[in-house]
Amino acid sequence: MEVKRLTLKNFRNYGEETVELAPRTNLIYGDNAQGKTNLLEAVHLAATGRSHRAKTDSQMVRFGEEYARVSVEFADRHRDYKIVIGILPANRKSVKINDVPINKLSVLVNYLNVVMFSPEDLELVKGSPKMRRQFMDTSISSLSPRYMSELVSYHKVLAQKNNLLKKAKFGDKKAADNIDVWNIQLASAGARIMKERKSFIDGIKKWAKDVHREIAESELEIVYSPSFEIELLDTPNPELSFLQRLEEVKQREIEYGSALYGIQRDEIRFFIDGNEAKLFASQGQQRTIVLCMKLALTEYIKTRRDEYPVLLFDDIMSELDEKHRSYLADKIRDKQVLLTCTDREESRAARVIKVTDGKTVKEE
Ligand SMILES: Nc1ncnc2c1ncn2[C@@H]1O[C@H](COP(=O)(O)OP(=O)(O)OP(=O)(O)O)[C@@H](O)[C@H]1O
Ligand SMILES: [Mg+2]
Repeated sequence: MEVKRLTLKNFRNYGEETVELAPRTNLIYGDNAQGKTNLLEAVHLAATGRSHRAKTDSQMVRFGEEYARVSVEFADRHRDYKIVIGILPANRKSVKINDVPINKLSVLVNYLNVVMFSPEDLELVKGSPKMRRQFMDTSISSLSPRYMSELVSYHKVLAQKNNLLKKAKFGDKKAADNIDVWNIQLASAGARIMKERKSFIDGIKKWAKDVHREIAESELEIVYSPSFEIELLDTPNPELSFLQRLEEVKQREIEYGSALYGIQRDEIRFFIDGNEAKLFASQGQQRTIVLCMKLALTEYIKTRRDEYPVLLFDDIMSELDEKHRSYLADKIRDKQVLLTCTDREESRAARVIKVTDGKTVKEE
């Protein structure tokens, strides 16, 4: 896939701006706080319907303005597309694909695919388990809207169950009985989500391992570590097995007053040469693991979509040593990449764009 043109109106620190992009590496450089990340955020917004960093949509509207608009023109192997996202007052959004309004954001996953690597991702290895679940969830959702809706309904049911658990803890007998109904729903969605997560991790672990061996000459092991044992998926009826496990722990959950088991407690574990990365990995090793995960995800999307996603790499080159940098430059050579940095150091770029205070200039 290839983004050809990005047009912004009142987006972040941009007034009106059009950026033409080249196939392959686009180097976006400039001093701090000029608008480099904002460009990547705009592409991410068009691809997923969400910012990778804003808590609310209105944060993306330029200070003092009413609305913002992002338009992304791109092409896949078959044809050209234009996605226009409007951010309107009160956090409302409008989406048009090829001038046709759509009302479900989840439809967007069928169009533009991106893989973002931003400084926030460095938390993936040592940060909270929630970040690792989010990595799985956003990756799988970017290929499957069905997974997304399953996850949303799982969490709705879980909130209901937690309500009942709180009451049951203080002796509400009826609440304790009603938990069973919610457990049935959690078990069927939970087993399916678990299965998707397992197949996703199975799908990326080999690539990540190969890339890691090339860069770091050590062995990276990625292990999906679900709340209930993984073997549950090999039983004749995983949904039933999931339910049985929930029933076994019901009393413990009532005593605790909230849910202790389920896919909301899943983990991914990383090992380098057998040592748990969460405990032992250096900063550089963590960065390498995340890089391997992102490159593996890129290949995974290629197998599912039959073409590469657009890579949005925010400020990651400066942190890498020369060996890693040239390895990465080589790896991404045949894909479209939007690469930000503060110096014009990456000589292998097809296009160089300088960003100054919400204005862009194409350099030769
Ligand atoms: N809604 C908004 N309206 C106007 N300006 C904004 C808005 N949101 C963010 N900004 C400003 O946009 C500027 C550029 O932000 P951006 O994150 O793109 O910088 P950057 O070029 O990536 O810098 P760095 O190298 O530090 O990462 C910042 O000064 C920020 O304060
Ligand atoms: Mg930035």
